[in-house]
Amino acid sequence: MKRIFVTGGAGFIGSAFIHLILRETSDVEIVNFDALTYAGNPENLTGVDETRHTFVKGDICDKAAVLAALPDDCEAIFNFAAESHVDRSISSADEFVLTNVLGTQVLLDAARARNVRRFIQVSTDEVMGSLPDESNLYFTEISPLKPNSPYAASKAAAEHFVRAARETFGLDTVITRCGNNYGPRQFPEKLIPLMISNAMNDEPLPVYGDGRNVRDWIYVEDHARAIWLAFERGKAGEIYNIGARNEQYNIDVVKAILDALGKPHSLIKFVADRLGHDRRYAIEADKSETELGWKPLTNWEEGLQKTIEWYQENQEWVAHIRNGAYRDYYQKMYGASLK
Ligand SMILES: NC(=O)c1ccc[n+]([C@@H]2O[C@H](COP(=O)([O-])OP(=O)(O)OC[C@H]3O[C@@H](n4cnc5c(N)ncnc54)[C@H](O)[C@@H]3O)[C@@H](O)[C@H]2O)c1
Repeated sequence: MKRIFVTGGAGFIGSAFIHLILRETSDVEIVNFDALTYAGNPENLTGVDETRHTFVKGDICDKAAVLAALPDDCEAIFNFAAESHVDRSISSADEFVLTNVLGTQVLLDAARARNVRRFIQVSTDEVMGSLPDESNLYFTEISPLKPNSPYAASKAAAEHFVRAARETFGLDTVITRCGNNYGPRQFPEKLIPLMISNAMNDEPLPVYGDGRNVRDWIYVEDHARAIWLAFERGKAGEIYNIGARNEQYNIDVVKAILDALGKPHSLIKFVADRLGHDRRYAIEADKSETELGWKPLTNWEEGLQKTIEWYQENQEWVAHIRNGAYRDYYQKMYGASLK
């Protein structure tokens, strides 16, 4: 059995990764270490093979807890755990610095102390900032780091600590940088699930600014598969960009959701733009395709349809979140604009 340590495995992408790996392998055992913040949801793990999955509640900033949970003879740490929402980082950045930066360093130290064979840092294209509108420019692995939000700055800082562990101590590290994910079990404050659940409830769909921000969308399972291949085939010390060559204007995403649900475009409500809102992200994924032998398997139309169907079939999952603390947060972010 290969033992791996996954942090943040109760979140959106971490849980998709765990579902995929337990389904597609028979020789991997996972310790899933997650603090269960507002974004961590044990319901996301319903149906995984529990004989090869151990959940441990803990904070990646807590060195003793990490060392106690790390399995002996660990093949890899996959670091998904993060404060991940840009809007929340604009309201308060403290937790972002703690979890995303200090937490990553704690995990790097633990990996060295316990001779973990490889460290996979799950990063984001947002560390590279924003691209000009409608240009032919793309993010590559050598694009300069120019983070614009506190979230992106914390993820960029984490990357520097991963690089430093490689250069200073020779730790075997790989960094993956992906674009915007969508799919089942995404917390409903993010664009696609927010729009799906508002549309299903005939509530206004808040769209920032002019809606012409461009994001490069990827189906979450394609991202999860790329991370696994980066672990199996990536070269130590390398960075791999992951993207599905699927640039979409936000407004087109919202209209596609309304059309798929048979709801009127009049539900769209433009609201004041997010501070420092990045205009365009677009990823050049040649290196992942060539060196990892990866390519996305789910196209946009199919992925969006599957995602909408998942939210239609799992309304209880959304209800559990919506009637909790998330409500207050939602009111604070969009409330005034929607009155
Ligand atoms: N969502 C995207 O589109 C996207 C794109 C590229 C990269 N990423 C990166 O992928 C990773 C996962 O993103 P996501 O969208 O699944 O996020 P998420 O917010 O859904 O999940 C984050 C998980 O981390 C856990 N967590 C938070 N702080 C923790 C701590 N201190 N200790 C232990 N666990 C903690 C939470 O409980 C939650 O389960 C993040 O590192 C993010 O930066 C996300």
